[in-house]
Amino acid sequence: MRNVLVTGGAGYIGSHACKALKAAGFTPVTLDSLVTGWQDAVKFGPFEQGDLLDRALLDTVFEKYEPVAVMHFAALSLVGECMRDPGLYWRNNVAGSLNLIEAAVAAGCLDFVFSSTCATYGDQDNVVLDENTAQHPINAYGASKRAIEDMLRDFEAAHGLRHVIFRYFNVAGADPDGEVGEFHQPETHLVPLMLDAIDGKRDALTIFGTDYDTPDGTCIRDYVHVCDLVDAHILGLKWLQDNKGSRVFNLGTGAGFSVREVLDQSHAVTNRSVPYIEGPRRAGDCTKLVSGSQRAMDELGWNPHRSTMKQMITDAWRWHQTGHYER
Ligand code: UFG
Repeated sequence: MRNVLVTGGAGYIGSHACKALKAAGFTPVTLDSLVTGWQDAVKFGPFEQGDLLDRALLDTVFEKYEPVAVMHFAALSLVGECMRDPGLYWRNNVAGSLNLIEAAVAAGCLDFVFSSTCATYGDQDNVVLDENTAQHPINAYGASKRAIEDMLRDFEAAHGLRHVIFRYFNVAGADPDGEVGEFHQPETHLVPLMLDAIDGKRDALTIFGTDYDTPDGTCIRDYVHVCDLVDAHILGLKWLQDNKGSRVFNLGTGAGFSVREVLDQSHAVTNRSVPYIEGPRRAGDCTKLVSGSQRAMDELGWNPHRSTMKQMITDAWRWHQTGHYER
């Protein structure tokens, strides 16, 4: 029995991680509050419903499943929301993670894989961000993730908690088998909003800002396929199990796509045009966020071979047309 506790396993990235864990011979045990997750995304192992703020529940779950490791995806992650209600982010993300880390240490479960974000780097436009770039988050979401990174370091020093921290760039795409996919309520991400606009489920997409200092005036992001992203997590887990020590890895490809380029690619995949309007900039958006991800490739042997824009949109489009969760 090689159970891995997956917090947020009913969410977009967590559900894909559960599928990858099962394929790698682990049993993913999902712990999810279902505040932003979907119970019918839990398909690959046991499910426990609960909140990270409930320490007694965490102790029970560790005792029941005796996981060999934790993958910690559960978090609130809406930049707009965190600006309005930072307390929500410090409580759910930071206090919740503290509970989880303390429970893991108490249970002797000392291998920990953590979902962090490029939002911890803050607004450093036109710089390729690598793991040594200074972290200056500009919102409570990024600050909460950076605080948890610091927490992991302190718990390693005091209690031997080995950890791999992954700083995600923009995650897109879906399981090519269509078993799980992306579905947020509310949805704020470019690719699913764009696909909704294409097939008339929503009004026209608004391009947030066309006056950025980029070749076509729209923001540039580094997109990574969700299946490549979760592959890195399996490699990170093996890294810990091989006693290679705690490490931080960026997960992006180093290729940047502007909003207009993403729209163009979606036309190539779906053969339909995206209805769009040009709107003002969205508060908190950086001009360009591109990852230096060489470390994950060199040290983990990570190969993000599915992270072409065409593949991400193809898989997202398939899920969009056929997959769904009960809502
Ligand atoms: N965009 C639009 N119109 C939309 C939605 C998005 O033009 O309706 C643009 C955004 O301005 C941005 C790009 O598309 O330039 C990507 O936007 P997303 O909302 O999909 O992703 P973000 O880059 O804003 O967010 C990602 C993660 C967050 C994380 C953030 C860090 O999804 O969790 O990076 O900056 F906080």
